[in-house]
Amino acid sequence: MKAWLSRLQNDLDFVPSSPKELAAYELSHALPDIPCRIETDPAMDEGYRISHSPDGTYLITGGTTGVLYGAYALICRVLCGESLPDEFRSSPQYALRMINCWDNADGSVERGYSGRSLFFEGGHLQYDPFRMRELGRLLASVGLNVLCINNVNVHFPAQLLLEDYLGEAAALADLLRPFGVRLMFSVDFSQPMRHGIPTADPLDPAVQAWWKETAARVWKAIPDLAGFLVKADSEGRPGPFTYGRNHADGANMLAEAVRPFGGSIIWRCFVYNCRQDWRDTKTDRPKAAWEHYAFLDGQFADNVILQVKHGPFDFQVREPLSPLLLGMKKTHMAMELQLAQEYTGHQIDIYTMIPMWRELFEELPESNIMSLAAVSNLGRDENYTGHPLAAVNLFTYGLLAWDPQTDAKEAVTRWARLTYAFSPADESSLVSLLLSSRRTYEKYTAPLGIGWMITPHDHYGPNPSGYEYDLWGTYHKANRDAVGIDRTAAGTGYLLQYPDSLQQKYGDPVTCPDLYILFFHRLPYTFRMKDGRTLIQRIYDDHFDGFSETQAMAETIRSLPFPEEDRKVILDRMDRQLCNAKEWCDIINTFFFRLSGFRDEHGRTIYD
Ligand code: GCU
Repeated sequence: MKAWLSRLQNDLDFVPSSPKELAAYELSHALPDIPCRIETDPAMDEGYRISHSPDGTYLITGGTTGVLYGAYALICRVLCGESLPDEFRSSPQYALRMINCWDNADGSVERGYSGRSLFFEGGHLQYDPFRMRELGRLLASVGLNVLCINNVNVHFPAQLLLEDYLGEAAALADLLRPFGVRLMFSVDFSQPMRHGIPTADPLDPAVQAWWKETAARVWKAIPDLAGFLVKADSEGRPGPFTYGRNHADGANMLAEAVRPFGGSIIWRCFVYNCRQDWRDTKTDRPKAAWEHYAFLDGQFADNVILQVKHGPFDFQVREPLSPLLLGMKKTHMAMELQLAQEYTGHQIDIYTMIPMWRELFEELPESNIMSLAAVSNLGRDENYTGHPLAAVNLFTYGLLAWDPQTDAKEAVTRWARLTYAFSPADESSLVSLLLSSRRTYEKYTAPLGIGWMITPHDHYGPNPSGYEYDLWGTYHKANRDAVGIDRTAAGTGYLLQYPDSLQQKYGDPVTCPDLYILFFHRLPYTFRMKDGRTLIQRIYDDHFDGFSETQAMAETIRSLPFPEEDRKVILDRMDRQLCNAKEWCDIINTFFFRLSGFRDEHGRTIYD
């Protein structure tokens, strides 16, 4: 199953020249019996209106790409059997709805679980034009409009900016343009040093001139390039700190270079000390982003967008919202999500993300961010996402980037219906399974906000002390009496980065939601949770529950009538998930039992 596309129509055997032409083609193939007309109103930009006239004709009016989004909206609703009002209008909440691919020029994909890169091989851009059109449809059909094709860790720094490769990239941009998808490139902050300039200091005139000349060359080849994505001073990447400059100096210099062409600088805020001494109790990694950026609020150029991971650590199964997303009111901000299941099951374990995203949006006022980005889960596998069910994350991300109020159940149901067209009973089983999958994964891996008990580097499977004596700032400090980190004012002080209301909510273990309790507090195993159970008993119960929920999930998965091409992959991965859940449950429970000496009240098997 090619994600949800199979039901839109058959293979895309046509090379569209504009969104309008593509919209007409899609409508005539997917809804051959429904008369449709398309009218462009450039003022509507990406928005559209669908109106139903008494003679049964649908009129789609929209901006240049709005007509395409309108066509897909109509097709999806009709194929899903949803009724449409006589007039329906929609426009996206966020301007840039981005996919960030972490694809390397050698064809590998950092944190990729769906095969090799769709774009690169052997140091070159190398792609199948047919698959690029399919990719364009995958993105456009859910309203995504920016695709950054290369890794934020720019291992081949020269590549996309050099004349040789720019031509190939421009051809790819041409292919994706009718789908309303603009390219973006990750760039290396020290790039000028590869071109004979002895420094990358953002205040150096030669550096500034190099970036200006480079931007002119790049935008000449790709006039609608969305911008440059930058990972600076992070995990070994070069950045302004080398020259005693701050990140506003660095980002604004690049912003000046791309401004004449309407480009943006997407500047990531994933900056922390990744060489921490575990004995150091003063440094607390979640505090880092705020310390580097909050004081610069208001100093960034208007074409700089700060891209902040949704939580203060790094895409753990549960983290509170990054305080930076709440605090920087005078800066354009983007929230970064991760579709690639780096810490969340490698696209082997089923993990549907939209319930988590909905929680984030409940804490985050919509106006605080202007764009949304997600690390891609796509690769060269036939089904694009490795696990066929992982496609739900790309689909629902698109819907949410268009409208952050999107209801999780409605979005997942729509994906299930478009992809599989099951009977109502089977569809309902699949949808409930997907919606509860994140909570199940959380229970058998790292419940109560603890995080980081995962195998180092690879990030699949349990290793409770794997990150404990390492240099990444990721500690739970479990000993025989207690576990967790005190991040209140009495502890590391991280909590003070939040607005008062959240400080109140999280600051007291009695009011702090259990789901975050060990993120904010260090508690003895005998601590009484809100439901009266002790902390240690809750740890045991959650892990046993997570494993038994996975067993129930496997029963459901085996009973569903997946098409043959998906069934084999899904069953194989389900077996691997079961083994993984069992390992997590037994190893984490054993780890805590051996430390604490407390027995499980229900006498279940934990190993001495
Ligand atoms: C994580 C991930 C890295 C990635 C980094 C980033 O640390 O493990 O592979 O490069 O995030 O977001 O830049």
